[in-house]
Amino acid sequence: MPWSFACPSSCQMLVLVAFTLLSALVEGTRNLSGASWGSTAYEWGLLGRYPQQSFKSAPLHPPLTNTVQWDEQCAQGYTLLSLRGTAVSEPAAIMLGGHGELVWMDESFGPYVMNLKVQKYKGEQYLTFWSGDISLGFGLGTYYMLDSHYQVFKQFSAASTLENDFHEYAITTDNTALLTSYDTVARDLSTLGVEGQGWIYDSLFREVDIETGEIIFEWRASDHFAVNDTYYPIDAAGRSPEAPFDFFHINSVDKDINGDYIVSSRFMHSIACISARTGKLLWTLGGRNNDFEDLSDGYATDFAWQHHVSVQDDNRLSIFDNTRYRKWHEELLESNGEISRGLLVQLDTDNMTVELVQEYMNPGARGSPQQGSMQVLNSGNVLLGWGYHAGFTEYSSDGAVLCDIHINPAMFFPFGFVHSYRAFRAATWIGRPNTQPDIYLDHEDGYAFVSWNGATEVTGWKLQTANATSGDKIVFTDAVNTNKDGFETKIEMPDGDYGFLRIIAVDKAGNVLASSKTVAANKISVPAASRKWKYAVVALMFWIVCFVTGFANQKGLRALIQTGQQKAGSRFRSRGWKDIWISGSAKSEEEERLYPS
Ligand SMILES: *[C@@H]1O[C@H](CO)[C@@H](O)[C@H](O)[C@H]1NC(C)=O
Ligand SMILES: *[C@@H]1O[C@H](CO)[C@@H](O)[C@H](O)[C@H]1NC(C)=O
Ligand SMILES: *[C@@H]1O[C@H](CO)[C@@H](O)[C@H](O)[C@H]1NC(C)=O
Ligand SMILES: *[C@@H]1O[C@H](CO)[C@@H](O)[C@H](O)[C@H]1NC(C)=O
Repeated sequence: MPWSFACPSSCQMLVLVAFTLLSALVEGTRNLSGASWGSTAYEWGLLGRYPQQSFKSAPLHPPLTNTVQWDEQCAQGYTLLSLRGTAVSEPAAIMLGGHGELVWMDESFGPYVMNLKVQKYKGEQYLTFWSGDISLGFGLGTYYMLDSHYQVFKQFSAASTLENDFHEYAITTDNTALLTSYDTVARDLSTLGVEGQGWIYDSLFREVDIETGEIIFEWRASDHFAVNDTYYPIDAAGRSPEAPFDFFHINSVDKDINGDYIVSSRFMHSIACISARTGKLLWTLGGRNNDFEDLSDGYATDFAWQHHVSVQDDNRLSIFDNTRYRKWHEELLESNGEISRGLLVQLDTDNMTVELVQEYMNPGARGSPQQGSMQVLNSGNVLLGWGYHAGFTEYSSDGAVLCDIHINPAMFFPFGFVHSYRAFRAATWIGRPNTQPDIYLDHEDGYAFVSWNGATEVTGWKLQTANATSGDKIVFTDAVNTNKDGFETKIEMPDGDYGFLRIIAVDKAGNVLASSKTVAANKISVPAASRKWKYAVVALMFWIVCFVTGFANQKGLRALIQTGQQKAGSRFRSRGWKDIWISGSAKSEEEERLYPS
């Protein structure tokens, strides 16, 4: 941390001036579509531990992402995140567009949303996610499906007394769901040195009929795996039902071409194939009981603490290899890897061989200790979500990094301020919210701001004006046509005499999709030139205030950044370094929204 070294006051002055100049630069590079591009100051934490955007027309605060590397190939489709972490005051489901701009965000499905994804059920696309309690390291919650209007189409659980976990929620082509569950049961743990009755968190997966919740298939790890094959240290766990030992830790399930189940066990460092017919273990890849000959000198089987194993075409598997966790448990293992990666491996289940097809190495040579995902896109490109490290990377199929996006500064990755269990790309999604576009008027400066959370088909906005009439009917006149620009579009209010305005959303073909509310214009005419002067004076005053109060508040700033905790009750939203600097912990501004009757 730059603030932790001893720094005499002259040096502090230099640091302060340097930060001030850098921050000014950062402001300049911020891309208007809502993402920051290649900002070093961002990575140094100058915008805070979790830089967020804010809007005039909607009370939403998505992350301000930083694009460290970019290729236009990555602008396809939508990126789906479920953000949480100590800096995320309201965990949210988030959909970003091709250039990192917000498309949809909903904080109302709390307390925790996990595994946000677009999946097909009976031929229709749904936004699917799990929501519930995650305090035990697995989930107690329910599974959701939202329709294109962002309404709950279905909320379901497996028909069982056991809890519904978040780790997997995969809808199959048979319209069933593959789901996980954890269960506290008594088991003999004497091979791990536990005397008397031992207790475990058993790992289960189920295939469930979504319509009825009926369990079609259920499998329990402890029936097939020896508890002492785990790599996880038992320490004091396993002695009571209050502290069971999580020996297996299931974190993904998929189905292969034969209909058999492919299960990932984080704590066994292995992937198991389970027969759909008999429930028996057909083979194990990796871990202590690996059945495969590794034709790649060990690189196809040396994954550890892995996540999100998925079946790919041609008998291949994709694996997100956390690996770094070895460092954290160094006493357990020979530590030979610390860079997280995605793996594509080729199985030959006749000859029982495995070969590494491609590795996708973390571009920052970082290791994410937990969570994470790997998705092979239709184009053959690969998307890795770094889980505990808030970011995602897209690669070409041959492993070259195309795009690298950070959701908070890389220097803060080890602190868990922000994370997304998985990151998914949806090639297509059509969002048609049931709401109206949101509008905010800045009367003084003469601007209208418009946005429509979740609408994917809007390409332009049409501002219309009207006069007050004595009758019921207000006649509107088209005044300004403008293209949609990111999540929120700023439109200069037209000159002229009018009492009301509204903004109409139009699609590519020019069809009207919806209208904002009609609002009183109350336009205060300020000549543009005087506006500029006003900005200049405000800017000057601002710099003076910064230099004076910046020093006085340095202690507060340091405390804020080092502990990473805001004072209770105040929501820390960094919209630039100014907020941190002046107030230590800025309050969220409740923007006045104008909806006169
Ligand atoms: C933001 O950056 C992207 C990628 O370079 C570019 O396509 C887009 O036009 C930029 N938006 C603005 C408003 O500058
Ligand atoms: C687990 O326990 C069994 C029975 O004591 C023993 O045969 C086996 O070697 C143990 N496995 C490991 C990895 O220690
Ligand atoms: C695997 O077995 C097949 C026959 O089933 C054989 O043709 C092939 O050469 C074997 N591959 C390797 C790599 O040994
Ligand atoms: C509103 O009324 C004024 C004065 O009658 C007229 O000049 C103006 O064009 C009207 N504006 C609209 C949008 O109808």
